[in-house]
Amino acid sequence: MQISKLVLSLLGSTAWFVAAQPSSSRPFLQPLNSTTGWIIGNGLWNITIGNVYGKKLFYKNQDLIGNAVGHYSGYDGEVNFQWTSASIYAETPKYLDVVFSATEIDLHWVIYPDLAGAYQYVVNKALPTLAVLRTLFRLVNTTSTHGRTNIKDDLLPPFADILVATKVQDETWQRADGTFITKYDWSTFIRELDFHGIYGQDFGSWYIRPGRDYFNGNHLKQELTVHRESATGDAVELNVIHGSHFQVNSSATFPVGKIWGPWLWYLNSGSKEDASRRATQEFANWPYSWLNDSRYQSRGSVSGKLILSDGRAAAGASVFLGDNNSNVSTLDQGTTYYYAGTADSKGVFSINNVRTATYGLYAWSDGGQIADVSTTYAQNDIVVENGKATALGTLSWELLSRQLIFQIGDLDHNAIGFRTGGGAYQHGLVADSPANLTYIVGQSNVSDWYYGQSALGSWTILFDLTKANITANKTAALSLSLAGYSRAVDIDVSVNSQLITSITSDSLASDPGLYRSSTAAGEWRFLEFNISAGVLKEGSNSVVFKATRTTLWRGFMWDSILLEWSS
Ligand SMILES: *[C@@H]1O[C@H](CO)[C@@H](O)[C@H](O)[C@H]1NC(C)=O
Ligand SMILES: *[C@@H]1O[C@H](CO)[C@@H](O)[C@H](O)[C@H]1NC(C)=O
Ligand SMILES: *[C@@H]1O[C@H](CO)[C@@H](O)[C@H](O)[C@H]1NC(C)=O
Ligand SMILES: *[C@@H]1O[C@H](CO)[C@@H](O)[C@H](O)[C@H]1NC(C)=O
Ligand SMILES: *[C@@H]1O[C@H](CO)[C@@H](O)[C@H](O)[C@H]1NC(C)=O
Ligand SMILES: *[C@@H]1O[C@H](CO)[C@@H](O)[C@H](O)[C@H]1NC(C)=O
Ligand SMILES: *[C@@H]1O[C@H](CO)[C@@H](O)[C@H](O)[C@H]1NC(C)=O
Ligand SMILES: *[C@@H]1O[C@H](CO)[C@@H](O)[C@H](O)[C@H]1NC(C)=O
Ligand SMILES: *[C@@H]1O[C@H](CO)[C@@H](O)[C@H](O)[C@H]1NC(C)=O
Ligand SMILES: *[C@@H]1O[C@H](CO)[C@@H](O)[C@H](O)[C@H]1NC(C)=O
Ligand SMILES: *[C@@H]1O[C@H](CO)[C@@H](O)[C@H](O)[C@H]1NC(C)=O
Ligand SMILES: *[C@@H]1O[C@H](CO)[C@@H](O)[C@H](O)[C@H]1NC(C)=O
Repeated sequence: MQISKLVLSLLGSTAWFVAAQPSSSRPFLQPLNSTTGWIIGNGLWNITIGNVYGKKLFYKNQDLIGNAVGHYSGYDGEVNFQWTSASIYAETPKYLDVVFSATEIDLHWVIYPDLAGAYQYVVNKALPTLAVLRTLFRLVNTTSTHGRTNIKDDLLPPFADILVATKVQDETWQRADGTFITKYDWSTFIRELDFHGIYGQDFGSWYIRPGRDYFNGNHLKQELTVHRESATGDAVELNVIHGSHFQVNSSATFPVGKIWGPWLWYLNSGSKEDASRRATQEFANWPYSWLNDSRYQSRGSVSGKLILSDGRAAAGASVFLGDNNSNVSTLDQGTTYYYAGTADSKGVFSINNVRTATYGLYAWSDGGQIADVSTTYAQNDIVVENGKATALGTLSWELLSRQLIFQIGDLDHNAIGFRTGGGAYQHGLVADSPANLTYIVGQSNVSDWYYGQSALGSWTILFDLTKANITANKTAALSLSLAGYSRAVDIDVSVNSQLITSITSDSLASDPGLYRSSTAAGEWRFLEFNISAGVLKEGSNSVVFKATRTTLWRGFMWDSILLEWSS
């Protein structure tokens, strides 16, 4: 009551309220003057937003921003949006939708009376072609001391440690004891992320992002989440809604009207259990019925059954609805809306709440029972209509009729299964991979092969063939499935001492996965080479990957290696 009286007396005729709510918790937009901007919030919290930065985030009578930089949004580094106006976009009996306008975008804050935090969404007006789009909070580090994602929950590294450490690459420092500090260690596969945020003993500030259809990329899309700001010591909570940090290219030009979100920015007492409960609730409520946008609400479903051409079900396959008729990889697709699903043990998949549009359907092996499948499935012209189920029936996924000689590692587009692969994000781990390695087919274990190859030296695969195996005049195919590749590392690929190819940073595009702490994936690539008849011989044979040039922490991240008879 007291707060509302104070607010009323301050506001005069320029304030707006949601009339049906108790006055103490009413959402509000309060314009200040031209230099100080606007205050928004409700009885639980409020923030003062200037032409770029949101400052003075009050919650429980405490300022969570203080001298930190606060809330802002922008793209590609530090091109930050400048708010030219703020106004009431919608006022309903339940909430107030306040829109901040910049030339490039509108940023909406949907404020409910009893909710600490707000839903936010971004609408494209005139964004340029860009690689990174994000909103964020930089909070004072005394109240926000820790970070939490679905896979990491820890104290943020102390600013003092960064100050005395040596910078070794982008946003990465080495302490005197040899260990590293980097924001990339806080990354995650964002389509698996339940919620993330920064918190301390009495406060938590969280991003809960259900739906995720506005993100670029497929199941293997990784992004930054939280970190210690390296120039100021702020605690940072990132909301990267279009990102480039782990892929070859993410440059995208967006249609006017594309919406990112809504997601929920949620404040609480620092309880992860409470944030988790809230996340479960938000995911169950997606897509949000309260958003008055006919295109957002217009959705259908897509289902089908993927059967491999040898009759097996495409068990556990990754299924992706993305761009129609595109030559861009599913990880790099990102102009509109994207849906990641998984087939069940019978190859059946169903993706619900898909926005009305025409899609391309893509599928690939995620290992398990179909870990030998190197081909991918693609079909264009998948039409999704509002309120309708698009049932595609049985879809036939062609395999190559080849006979396997050997395979090392599951085909699942990531390095999980190899030694040191698939663990926590860790900078520089590839430096622990050996320079020379010998793998004997039939004797060695998959876990004897390391996830990444970087050092100068040779990785050798030895295998035996009997006379019967080679009497026919057969050609073979050597397939290199890469979980990622970071330049500049070159390898010569030889079979029985015959050079098959040299893979160099001139011939293969680079992604940052390996040097940005991922131990599982950068961007997947599939390279195939013909081995002429007569190269393979009776007795002992070899395939050698010889690194002829290297760069520290860069190189090849392996998914799988296959040698097959192709004729
Ligand atoms: C705007 O408001 C601030 C804080 O209330 C005040 O210091 C400043 O003088 C005002 N500026 C103008 C132009 O009214
Ligand atoms: C913002 O919150 C602070 C702390 O609770 C309070 O003192 C202030 O009056 C609030 N501002 C508005 C405009 O409600
Ligand atoms: C918090 O930020 C302040 C101001 O930059 C800095 O001096 C301090 O070291 C930071 N604290 C931590 C734990 O990083
Ligand atoms: C990345 O995208 C930009 C902009 O669309 C384009 O100019 C560039 O050629 C792309 N790079 C690659 C490697 O595809
Ligand atoms: C939804 O928005 C339209 C304008 O875009 C408006 O005419 C309509 O009243 C709104 N409906 C609700 C339920 O707010
Ligand atoms: C989808 O792609 C196909 C080519 O594969 C093209 O013929 C068709 O026009 C595209 N549909 C839409 C709606 O863009
Ligand atoms: C994809 O196709 C477009 C036009 O058809 C072409 O301009 C672009 O270079 C192609 N991109 C790649 C990565 O092949
Ligand atoms: C080699 O030949 C044997 C006997 O014909 C056969 O069982 C085996 O599958 C063959 N192996 C390869 C790798 O071709
Ligand atoms: C292969 O390695 C895995 C993981 O280290 C281990 O569980 C398994 O027993 C090993 N198998 C063989 C045949 O050595
Ligand atoms: C790798 O093997 C090559 C060739 O035998 C050798 O010259 C080199 O010293 C080895 N590297 C390491 C690190 O053992
Ligand atoms: C083996 O196949 C090649 C073409 O793939 C052909 O030129 C050659 O004559 C064949 N040799 C025999 C012995 O069949
Ligand atoms: C490899 O051989 C197959 C036939 O087995 C042929 O269709 C294909 O074009 C060849 N690829 C290359 C890169 O030479």
